[in-house]
Amino acid sequence: MKILNGAALSKKIKSVLAIEIDYLVKKHGRAPKLCIVLTGDDPASTSYVKSKQKSCNEIGILCDLRLLPYATSQDELLALIEVLNNDPETDGILVQLPLPKHIDQNVVLQAIDYKKDADGLHPMNVGLLNRSDDAIIPCTPKGILSLLKAEDIPITGKHCVVIGRSNLVGKPMAQLMLRENASVTVCHSKTRDLPHLTRQGEILIIAIGHPNLLHADMLKKGAVVVDVGINSVDGKLVGDLYNSIDVQDIEKKAAAITPVPGGVGPMTVASLLENVVEIYKRRCAV
Ligand code: GUN
Repeated sequence: MKILNGAALSKKIKSVLAIEIDYLVKKHGRAPKLCIVLTGDDPASTSYVKSKQKSCNEIGILCDLRLLPYATSQDELLALIEVLNNDPETDGILVQLPLPKHIDQNVVLQAIDYKKDADGLHPMNVGLLNRSDDAIIPCTPKGILSLLKAEDIPITGKHCVVIGRSNLVGKPMAQLMLRENASVTVCHSKTRDLPHLTRQGEILIIAIGHPNLLHADMLKKGAVVVDVGINSVDGKLVGDLYNSIDVQDIEKKAAAITPVPGGVGPMTVASLLENVVEIYKRRCAV
């Protein structure tokens, strides 16, 4: 079984981006800038945001981190987004999710100028991806596709089974694989006879957010398995694939697996950086 090393590819993407940014700064006289808005102090979100900020700093993207208290009102958050939308120096805007319960996530995501939407979650970008047009693509699905392509995994004509239908991962992943000419099945919590469908997956993408769902007998022999989950079990970071009973059997049956950590996570960050540089280049070109 092959390990799909997202950490190594992410490092490579970052070093190529750093060289490109160096050139772009000389050409345009300013560095790309990402503003990350974190509302509240959720430990997982804080850790993701720190990792995004560190990666920006490493490659020459300016990172403006706005830490807002949990009690921030929706209107206050919308007012900040308005300021960032109109700030000529801000290229990308990322509002870290989840937002506090009293804030409507859809209203906030829709308020971001879609041309600055570093996460690709604005309805305009969702629609453009749906139309296979020139969208900003959500970072996790984009990173997964980059990893599959870098590892020369054929996609055209393959049956790709996605487990999970979130706006952040499952739905854009399905759209992206469809755009790559895969046949796509999307499964979710109400799917009947999940094993019947997962056994058909030549590429199986698991993004459900909790471990122990998949067992070896649910897998097609030779499948490429992408594990999007990041879960904490007994203080250890594990993916959705983690299964105390038969993880070894899964590893024997699969042709390739993304590890956790070091698989999809670093690719999400690399794709965010790519999105910011892409947005910056589009903004400099007009
Ligand atoms: N929360 C977990 N993953 C993500 C992500 O990729 N983007 C945003 N904005 N929030 C997240």
